[in-house]
Parts: sequence; structure tokens; C-alpha cells
Amino acid sequence: MNKKTGVKILGTGSYFPKKILTNADLEKMVDTNDEWITTRTGMKERHIAAPEEVTSDLALGASLEALKAAKIDASQIDLILVSTITSDMFFPTTACYLQTKLGLKDIPAYDLLAACSGFIYGLANAKAYIESGMYKTILLVGADILSRITDWTDRNTCVLFGDGAGAIVLTASEEDDDIVSVSLGADGSYSPLLYMYGGGSVCPATAESVAAKHHTMTMHGKEVFRNAVPKMVLAAEQALEKSGKKLEDIKLFIPHQANMRIIEAVAKKLNIPMDSVFINIHKTGNISSATTITALDEAIKTGKIKKGELAVLVAFGGGFTWGGAVIRV
Ligand code: ACO
Repeated sequence: MNKKTGVKILGTGSYFPKKILTNADLEKMVDTNDEWITTRTGMKERHIAAPEEVTSDLALGASLEALKAAKIDASQIDLILVSTITSDMFFPTTACYLQTKLGLKDIPAYDLLAACSGFIYGLANAKAYIESGMYKTILLVGADILSRITDWTDRNTCVLFGDGAGAIVLTASEEDDDIVSVSLGADGSYSPLLYMYGGGSVCPATAESVAAKHHTMTMHGKEVFRNAVPKMVLAAEQALEKSGKKLEDIKLFIPHQANMRIIEAVAKKLNIPMDSVFINIHKTGNISSATTITALDEAIKTGKIKKGELAVLVAFGGGFTWGGAVIRV
């Protein structure tokens, strides 16, 4: 019998727009203050895309860095997956725009949408494709420009989000099994707690829908918070169980960076000390699909996790969706 095909992580990369929006900047825009934002969320600053930058540009920046780290040419990719809730256009996909920007043709490219859990959903897609033998080398990107769907007059949400992109290159391997396990979940009955009403078939864009602010995010923060903690704990536990690994085997816990208090509550429930938890929320805010992959990339670059060590990634987002993954760097 042939040995099972595993997945090898070849390289990761990130891209952040140059402009930084600080809590002090936000104080000038809405009735808020640095103390409230810092104590309630842990956020200090976030990157904001320039007017001419679109999601596929951020995705391109992250992809080029990931390809460089992977030491392969773009022509070796045979599938592009992009997780985003802020695609360049409603259609065609950001993955198709990225394909052209990478100078590629003919290989399949598509977007997937699972809000803040999208990168972990993408990992599950990539793992299944590679293990089945359908595709060999996959570029998976998480990219979002949340500043474009943020109501900049709503202090409840506008302080929370930022822009950025992260990418990972994965390939088939007989020796390595770096995506050890992935566990996913969703509960659509919670969709009224976090959504963007306008732009789809429920509420196509009209002058009225724009005036009613239906093209920016609506979030019931407290209820989202309440659900995020148990679901992120569940996602971590399920991913660990599937992997056959124990918490003691894990070097670094990399949670979705939506709120410092959520991260602390999840770590406490899992009994993980905070010095084993990766945090960059103060610099990035919540960048939805880009959060876990940019956090992983930074953890690798800064040596917080080293070659051969295990990490648990966990995310939660609109849908609700959630996911966990045990990976070997
Ligand atoms: N500055 C100052 N005051 C504020 C601000 C602000 N930016 N925002 C809200 N407030 C006020 C509120 O108006 C409220 O005032 P009131 O008591 O006079 O009405 C008070 O602060 C408390 O508001 P709460 O909403 O109760 O604050 P809470 O402690 O719940 O924190 C927050 C709000 C940060 C949004 C939190 O609930 C949260 O992080 N929720 C989860 C978000 C999340 O995880 N999202 C993930 C998915 S995102 C995705 O999928 C795209």
C-alpha cells in the first residue's frame, strides 16, 4: 500500500498597508478614547489600505513573500485559494485577480468565505485537495480590507478592524504532515448577530440601501463575545483530539485576534499560560481572514515558534463559523 500523502508547509508571508490608524486618530473621528479601546479590546493601532489599494494587491504582497520563503516559482502553484469577506468585486473572485497579478493562467482559482474563520476553512480545503492527490502545490491566502465595509461613524465597530493579508504555500509530501489536523464548525442560526445586510440578493444596492448604511458591518458585540469564547475552546479541543496531540505537545497557541479579553478567556479555559499565546492584536486589530495567517507568519519570523514545533490555530467569526488546526511549522 502507498504511504499516505502528507502536507508540507513551504513558506508563509504577510503584507500590511503602510498607513497606520492609531487610537489617538480614532479619538478625532468618533466619541472614543485610547483607554476604552485598550482596556476593552487590547488594540492600539491598525493598518488601513490606501484608496487605490484593493484586496488582491494585499494578497499579492503576501503571496510574493510566501513564495520567496517557499523558494519556489509561482509557476509551480496548481491551485489558488483566497479567503476574504471583502473581495475586489462581488465577482469575479479575488483569487482570479490574484492569479493574473502573479502572471499565471489556466490553474483553478477561487474565493471562499467563512468570515474570521476563513483561513482555517481554507487550510481544510487545501489539506483535503493535497491528501486526495487532486492538487499538489496550493497557494492559500487570507486577505481583507475591512476599512471598506466599516461604518466610520459607529464607535461600536470602527475601532475594531484593520486591513492586511497573509499567505501560505503548501505542497504534497511523503515525509511531512505539517497540517496535522483541522476541525471546523458553523451555526447559521446566529447570522443575525454579525453580518453585512446590503449588496447580496436580500438587499441589492440602491440609493436607499446606501443611505440606510446597509453596506457596512453590523455586529452585536456582547453576544458575539459570549459565543466566541466557548466555540474557540471547542475548536481547539476538537483539533487537538483529531491530531492525537496533547496541550503539552503544543509550543504556541495562535488565536484569532478579535479581542484581548476573548483571547485571555479562551486561554484560561484551556489552561494555557499567556506566555504560550501569540498576541499581535495591539498592532493589527481584527483583520478577519488575514488574522491567523499573519499571526502565524509573524510568530515564525520572530522565532516565537521554530521549525518542527507544533502550534494550534483557532478562529471564530460571522456565520457563526469556527475552526481549529494543529500544525507543525
Ligand atoms: N469607545 C468608547 N465607548 C464605547 C465604544 C468606543 N469605541 N464602543 C462602545 N462603547 C460604549 C458603549 O456605547 C457602551 O456604553 P453604554 O453602556 O453607555 O451603552 C459601553 O461602551 C459598553 O459597550 P459594550 O458593547 O457593552 O462593550 P463590551 O465590553 O461588550 O465591548 C466589544 C465591546 C469590544 C465590541 C466586544 O463586545 C467584542 O469584542 N465583541 C466580539 C467581537 C468579535 O469577536 N468579533 C469577531 C468576529 S468579527 C468577523 O467575523 C468579521
